[in-house]
Amino acid sequence: MRPLQSCWLCLLFCCCSRKNLVFGACFFGVFAVEYFRKDVIAIMNDIITTACKFVTSSIGRKILVALTGACLLLFLVGHLAGNMTIYGGDPGNGVPSWIDAYATGLHTMPAWLLWAIRLGLAAILLIHVVLTLALKIENVNARTQYQKEGTLKATLSSRTMVLTGIMIFCFLVFHLWQLTVNGDPANCYQHIVDAFTSPICSGFYILAICCLFMHVRHGLQSVFQTLGLSTRKVRPLYNIIAVLFGLVVCGAFISIPVAVLCGILK
Ligand code: HEM
Repeated sequence: MRPLQSCWLCLLFCCCSRKNLVFGACFFGVFAVEYFRKDVIAIMNDIITTACKFVTSSIGRKILVALTGACLLLFLVGHLAGNMTIYGGDPGNGVPSWIDAYATGLHTMPAWLLWAIRLGLAAILLIHVVLTLALKIENVNARTQYQKEGTLKATLSSRTMVLTGIMIFCFLVFHLWQLTVNGDPANCYQHIVDAFTSPICSGFYILAICCLFMHVRHGLQSVFQTLGLSTRKVRPLYNIIAVLFGLVVCGAFISIPVAVLCGILK
């Protein structure tokens, strides 16, 4: 009889006497772990080795940058959808703004869930930034070794990715401090309107969101390319999709400070 079969029999015996059920279950657990230990360790080793090879290879890092970038784009779409509720309701005539209800709703979700989402987003952003910088440094080093003149097909967006990325990061720090740390979900509408009444603050947001447009435009094209979805034939179509996506998302974000400056939101 094989050891595992004898273990099943042993558990059956323990169940019969009922009193020994817990003891039997523990014994069975320990035995099963011991029995499969070598297989489990071998599988874990394989997984870790493959993951390490993937992350240290150039293509693996590119894929991770593309996937984390895609996640950040999804967040952006979700955040925009929430922000667009600022146009709902009529606070001037005493009808509460939808954005207050939306922000309050966000903060009534369980704290652990809210923080899990925040930490998840922060981890995705960190992986995206660190791997992008590592790839950039590798590219610069490779270029000095095998130097070739000119960046013929490089667009302004592609050449300024690091610069626009840094600008978006600085914007994010200011934005979180202004609207999350010092924000009041029940008074979200008034807080946003008060902030954007200052042309300097609105100007900074508009500038940062223009950088976001350039970053997103090139980033989305790169996602298609890295994930192998882009061929010579469909590339122009993906370029149009990336520009349209950037224009719609960033245009909608910019509409908020513009609407406040024009007195549409007050
Ligand atoms: C006019 C444009 C924008 C407005 C009015 C706006 C508004 C807000 C508000 C009110 C919050 C606080 C939500 C809350 O905790 O109650 C927030 C949080 C946040 N915003 Fe924005 N936002 C804008 C643009 C952006 C952009 C362009 C980005 C990304 C680049 C961004 C990223 C974030 C992040 C990461 C948070 C933190 C989410 C959290 O609290 O967990 N926002 N925004």
